[in-house]
Amino acid sequence: MKRLPRAPFSPEGLGRRKFLWSGARFLGAAALASAAPFTWHGNLAAQELVVPGKEKMIVRSLKYMDLEMPAYLLNSWLTPVELFYVRNHLPMPSVNLAEWRLTVTGEVEKSLELTLADLQKLEPASMTNTMECAGNGRSFYRPRVPGIQWARGGVGNATFAGPRLADVLRHAGVKATGKHVAFNGLDEPPGKVPDFIRSIPIEKAMDPDTLLATTMNGAPLKIEHGFPVRMVVPGWLGAASVKWLVEVKVIEREFDGNFMKPGYRFPTRPVPPGGEISPDETSTIKGLPVKSIIARPVEGAYLKAGPIRITGAAWAGEQEVTRVEVSTDQGRAWKPAELGREKAKYAWRLWEYNWKPPAPGTYVIMSRATDSAGRAQPSEPAWNPSGYLWNVIDKVRIHVEA
Ligand code: MTE
Repeated sequence: MKRLPRAPFSPEGLGRRKFLWSGARFLGAAALASAAPFTWHGNLAAQELVVPGKEKMIVRSLKYMDLEMPAYLLNSWLTPVELFYVRNHLPMPSVNLAEWRLTVTGEVEKSLELTLADLQKLEPASMTNTMECAGNGRSFYRPRVPGIQWARGGVGNATFAGPRLADVLRHAGVKATGKHVAFNGLDEPPGKVPDFIRSIPIEKAMDPDTLLATTMNGAPLKIEHGFPVRMVVPGWLGAASVKWLVEVKVIEREFDGNFMKPGYRFPTRPVPPGGEISPDETSTIKGLPVKSIIARPVEGAYLKAGPIRITGAAWAGEQEVTRVEVSTDQGRAWKPAELGREKAKYAWRLWEYNWKPPAPGTYVIMSRATDSAGRAQPSEPAWNPSGYLWNVIDKVRIHVEA
């Protein structure tokens, strides 16, 4: 795909942010020099790295800025933007709004070049979507797999708004040969690293819920979440939702660049843990699986005897969460959790379960979600070499004091 010339950094509004991010890079250099590992074990004191403005986030990588929300902070239906995970494959771009354009090309009757003002003339739509990185939970796979070692918090729920992609494509007029739509952002790969380009089938592109989002939770997108415009492909893996969007290209076949193949694919047959699979035995990840996580209590907590409030969230991509159940006896008995009132088509449900431990001791609390397609969280992981789509029944071990 053609690249737009790189824009100089705009001082208006974004200047301060640039300073903060370069501050973070400095912190990163210091940390890498000491080669300190920075995995998170639920102990705030163990976190050695912080990004200014994102102090509560777990820093999974400073190279291109990957930040995870500590799952115990999940206590609201909408994730505050400062707690929403950040996943960057490449350095974040600088955006000069005066020069920013969105081009629409490929298998269309008429190519378009749109300004942000042009997009803002289109009817805005709004949608609440739980976005999750396909690698969320990767750190739990055994044997371990390489990649960012996400635990539970590579996920967030936000209300996104902006024009529908379908309206823009209708203006351009999609030819009968246009079967997929590819997206490219302003972020540029250093050296030989491949560019982050992703495609989705035309049916999902024309879905009225697929947005060119300009706002997140009612405010303009922050630079780290794709300012000024990002794709939001609801219910699908986060990678589909390309940030800093500058190019939309209608194409005949699924795009097959690095981040589509071998990236973000799941085996079509079971792989023994530690085994290998050829890319031809994998398919593109689309909708997210059903999953619940326990936010509180946290792993290893010592709790006073008395009622314990167990809370978490559950989501199911394009499906609806129908049930969350909790077990406190190694999975023998499962009791229904209460689902939160707030709901939307692609959004997670908060849930809670009030439990009276029968006696002091050590317990494993488990949560299991089921969705409208009849899918339930498995008890065993589907190990895969890239560590994608971890959705095993969640577990935390706690101690109830006498
Ligand atoms: N878009 C661009 N241009 N570059 C990227 O590296 N990362 C993708 C996606 N969009 C990415 C991108 C991935 S892997 C995920 S999970 C989501 O953005 C994360 O979005 P967030 O950082 O706003 O949470």
